[in-house]
Amino acid sequence: MAFIEINGGKQLSGEVNIQGSKNAVLPILAATVLINGIIKLNHCPKILDVFHMIKILEAIGCNASWEKHTLIIDTTKLNTSTVPEEYVRLMRSSIIMMGALLGRTHSVTITYPGGCTIGARPIDFHLSAFQDMNVSLEEEDGLIKCTTTGIVGNEISLKFPSVGATENIILAAVLATGKTSIINAAKEPEITELCKFLNTAGAEITGAGTEKIEINGVEYLHPIEYTACSDRIVAGTYLAAVAGAGGEAVLTGIGAGSLQMVVTLLREMGCNIISGEEYIIISSLGRLKPISLIRTMPYPGFPTDMQSQIMSVLMTATGTSRIIEEIFEGRYQNVKEQIKFGADIQIEGRTAVINGVSNLTGCEVFASELRGGAALVIAGLMARGKTTLHNPYFIERGYEDICRDLRKLGADIKLVT
Ligand code: EPZ
Repeated sequence: MAFIEINGGKQLSGEVNIQGSKNAVLPILAATVLINGIIKLNHCPKILDVFHMIKILEAIGCNASWEKHTLIIDTTKLNTSTVPEEYVRLMRSSIIMMGALLGRTHSVTITYPGGCTIGARPIDFHLSAFQDMNVSLEEEDGLIKCTTTGIVGNEISLKFPSVGATENIILAAVLATGKTSIINAAKEPEITELCKFLNTAGAEITGAGTEKIEINGVEYLHPIEYTACSDRIVAGTYLAAVAGAGGEAVLTGIGAGSLQMVVTLLREMGCNIISGEEYIIISSLGRLKPISLIRTMPYPGFPTDMQSQIMSVLMTATGTSRIIEEIFEGRYQNVKEQIKFGADIQIEGRTAVINGVSNLTGCEVFASELRGGAALVIAGLMARGKTTLHNPYFIERGYEDICRDLRKLGADIKLVT
């Protein structure tokens, strides 16, 4: 079995270009189903979750091919609206296919996605929104069958600004009859990116990035070429790696606009960060200061997808920090692995108390989910000596090649297969 080997305890220095955004590209790939033609998606990351999404698109009759980092999708031969069960099990976010298939074919059959390590991850908001849009649901032995005589726009109020539910409603609404308003919509940059993609293809969406999004249904969408934005969480992960290990780095292909809260906290901890339209420069010298309280929140608050990574950085801060994980109830699974480095972390319900220690020691750890795995890489870079990180598969779901990228920043890290 493959594992990642890190010799840590050294400062980082170098430059790395940031890959395309996983959480922007996944809903965009679902959105291609709403377009009957050939779509070119540039700056598409070659990560496992994209490969899974391609398998789903091929399973429903689409064709996909790569030209370097451009993914070309041909949806003209789409021939079914049943999403194969094995891919839903592999990647729960394939639930995003529901809105798109309903929009294109007025039906979808999909397995109930299970939870995962970070949480139960229910989809009740998605399903009740579809029912408010003239979709009828049948659920039998784990399968959800949706049909509609035609999607009808409506006003949908979300109890929580769910990213996936906001995306699924948008996808169902773009070809609907009439207008759909989403109240308490998610404001994540990935929502804005999805709406930019759809508007480029002829949709009429306003309010992306605000808590109220309006979609006027149109007759059809036309094929386009589109360039995906860079991945803000991958960028945030590498900023955290430099913050924790010390040194300096230039990240290119992304600005700090979508990472404001992460940058603010890293500056508060003692990092110097400057940024422009397409670059972020960070330097981190000496031990960092603790943060009294970090609460993960929907955008523009501190992102839950950066919680484990910032926890690793705080493990050697000069005092006590507290994190409250408000979004996913299972996001502290990774802490037992972080403690193996010699960290002092206590979990009290949703609160993690991190007492900074002066140094960490390399060890053998096991990734069990994507961002927790990335946080273990950061801890390995900070720790003196060798770290062996098992189950790198989880990290490859969202990072194109974390070892390649961190070696560009001078890290002594490699994937051993
Ligand atoms: C998206 O997940 C991201 N995934 C997650 O990133 C990210 O952590 C999350 O948004 C929050 O930002 C993708 O974009 C593919 P939610 P999603 O619906 O859409 C509850 C990563 O590491 N909820 O905003 O599933 C849910 O239980 C991944 O890249 C319901 O109760 O997140 C959670 O507590 C991890 N009912 C909260 O809302 C619903 O119907 C936020 O979930 C839907 C959600």
